[in-house]
Amino acid sequence: MKTQTVLVLDFGGQYKELIARCVRNMSVYSEIRFCETPIEEIKELAPIGIILTGGPNSVYGDSAPTCDKALFELGIPILGICYGMQFTAYSLGGEVVACKESEYGKIKVKVDTTSALFKEIAPEQIALMSHTDRVSKLPKGFKITSSTKNCPVAAMENKEKNIYSVQFHPEVERTEHGKEILHNFVFDICGAVADYSMDDYIENQIKEIREKVGNERVVLGLSGGVDSSVCAALIGKAIGEQLTCIFVDHGMMRKNEGDEIEKEFSTHNINFVRVNAGPRFLAKLEGVADPEKKRKIIGTEFVRVFEEEAKKCGAKFLAQGTIYPDVIESGAKNSANIKSHHNVGGLPKDMGFIGLVEPLRGLFKDEVRVLGRKLGLSVKLVERQPFPGPGLAVRIIGDITEAKLVILKEADSIFCMEVEKLPLAKRPHQYFAVLTGMRSVGVMGDCRTYDYTIAVRAVTTTDFMTAEYAPLPHKLLGRVSSRIANEVNGASRVVYDITGKPPATIEWE
Ligand code: XMP
Repeated sequence: MKTQTVLVLDFGGQYKELIARCVRNMSVYSEIRFCETPIEEIKELAPIGIILTGGPNSVYGDSAPTCDKALFELGIPILGICYGMQFTAYSLGGEVVACKESEYGKIKVKVDTTSALFKEIAPEQIALMSHTDRVSKLPKGFKITSSTKNCPVAAMENKEKNIYSVQFHPEVERTEHGKEILHNFVFDICGAVADYSMDDYIENQIKEIREKVGNERVVLGLSGGVDSSVCAALIGKAIGEQLTCIFVDHGMMRKNEGDEIEKEFSTHNINFVRVNAGPRFLAKLEGVADPEKKRKIIGTEFVRVFEEEAKKCGAKFLAQGTIYPDVIESGAKNSANIKSHHNVGGLPKDMGFIGLVEPLRGLFKDEVRVLGRKLGLSVKLVERQPFPGPGLAVRIIGDITEAKLVILKEADSIFCMEVEKLPLAKRPHQYFAVLTGMRSVGVMGDCRTYDYTIAVRAVTTTDFMTAEYAPLPHKLLGRVSSRIANEVNGASRVVYDITGKPPATIEWE
């Protein structure tokens, strides 16, 4: 059974994901599509409501985003937010002007509580406004339902046509009754029945996967990361032994990581193949110091191993743990192109797959984590921090050797162990050690040493696109330094990387 969908049309606003999340939190499925999605595609989706997001443009700007105006004639309830409201007004014959005074921040708004949108909501509330344009003339058939001191039209509606708009942002916490406003739109105006839950999601996906693959075999490149692990558990639940998960251990995983991944998946009802390809990768990487060359060699070798294994089991479908932000970031719409991810990057077409299985394609990371827990994956696995596909190869500056890998694995394990003594809420979002290519003079006992310098890095971030260095307590750093210098053969100095991203990146290579 298809669940109801509230469609969020993206006009470039920074809160679009929040809107979809808010709706999903009300147990109604919501997904985001680009504003220019063809009307035929929208009709096919048959949403019960459409939300037009905000955006940084002016409707009069040269590059103003737009959507098919036929949208307003579909009879589907529409809620325009910020730019979405200005676009609605402009498209339907109203006017938009620049504000004399831009409104930014928390503003007092008055709302008409006889409007279905503001039903049972206090007539005055604080809302987040962030705009330089405003609606100055209503389109025909619309009436004003909210205003602020500087914005006479802070909300408008055409009840007959089921078109509603707000200049402020109901999706953010800073708008006092924002959630109730969205609730009113979704339930009272769109008539949603709250038919979406993770349990249904699992059931629906299981059904869809079974229908899609029939009796064929499916292979999944399992890296041990959250997305591919949850994907494996879900597809495994759907088709059991028809799925083969291929975990390519390239020898540059963290200490004990390969064994932990194997242990976790040996308890699930799936075929799990671990390919210990460490020596093969190290041989290819011998003497290579350039970061890009290292990445390319690892990517290519990964594909080769994966290709060999896939052929062995005669799989017709390729499964991927693609999640919604991947889809958005890659700019892809519904295309089934294989993205350049480390574990399937550039898979050759001649591998002969007839289709892709991507059951997480509509989910956000935190939803994937919830799903993982529901599928019985361990908390440790579900809450894992990101780990780059090329692994420790991009955390060893210069060429890679067995000896350097041993030093880094030990140092990293000590650092992680110490950071993990912090309560969960105080832990940085990503933390790891780097083996810098630099050696320095030290003194141990009465002897001179000339060993490697280890850098430790810890960052806080929400999206990993930008990051701040985490100000870890000095005591903790002191303990880490002393433990690494004393316990790790070959490391004699520890430094703390205090650079943000930008200008640095999170990984050193
Ligand atoms: P950077 O270093 O670009 O990293 O600031 C941002 C985030 O991405 C992770 N990362 C990777 N993940 N394959 C991955 O799956 C890769 O090749 C890769 N390189 C970096 C990195 O750990 C950080 O979380």
